[in-house]
Amino acid sequence: LKLLSPNKDLQGKNVLVTAGPTREAIDPVRFITNHSSGKMGYAIAERAAARGAEVMLVSGPTNLPTPIGVKRLDVNTTNEMYNMVIEHSDKADIIIKSAAVADYRPETVAENKIKKGDVDIAISLTRNPDILKKLGEIKKDGQVLVGFAAETQDIIENAKSKVERKNLDFIVANDLTKDGAGFKGDTNIVTIIDSTGDVQHYEKMDKKDLADIILDKAKSIYIKE
Ligand code: CTP
Ligand code: CA
Repeated sequence: LKLLSPNKDLQGKNVLVTAGPTREAIDPVRFITNHSSGKMGYAIAERAAARGAEVMLVSGPTNLPTPIGVKRLDVNTTNEMYNMVIEHSDKADIIIKSAAVADYRPETVAENKIKKGDVDIAISLTRNPDILKKLGEIKKDGQVLVGFAAETQDIIENAKSKVERKNLDFIVANDLTKDGAGFKGDTNIVTIIDSTGDVQHYEKMDKKDLADIILDKAKSIYIKE
């Protein structure tokens, strides 16, 4: 079988990927979100499935087609993503959290559309749960946990502290100030920092190529353990 499918090196592995933004309602017609396109997470899901893994993709709202061979579960809010991910985390060998999760949500969602008046208004925000931190707390032996970090300053320090704080095997840090990196395009410029303190910089590359690099590193950790 191996000879027939030489590139199916993730066969038998269960990979859980999150992608896209989350969306938090203010009222029935308005919401808070971010610029995430979902492209990075979808590329990881696509490459993992192409390499033979069983892939579950928990996705916030995106305009992207579901990659071939991938099971996609759609969510909107951070709380919905939290529940979906925790429900499916137990059977995952590798979890890759590329979603750009909203850290806060409006404290209350107005039942009706908010009408404008002559005075300014303020929206009070409340903290959302940290999905990745929770995954780090309930991490099983041998499970590989990968995070992303979106930074605009002190990238290495901030990303390192996220690796420790969230009990990750490694983190893929995006420098959002660089052209060709981050949320929207087809390319990314990242630094990968692992739990041993190893820091690896990568030049600008296609998100699909980066997806393979991330999966290669996750696989090498999975095999070691
Ligand atoms: N993340 C998560 N749940 C949240 C916030 C973030 O699972 N409520 C995950 C993201 O999917 C990502 C990683 O945590 O893999 C880092 O996200 P990032 O926004 O860079 O870090 P935060 O811990 O939210 O810290 P801050 O936004 O303050 O930099
Ligand atoms: Ca955040």
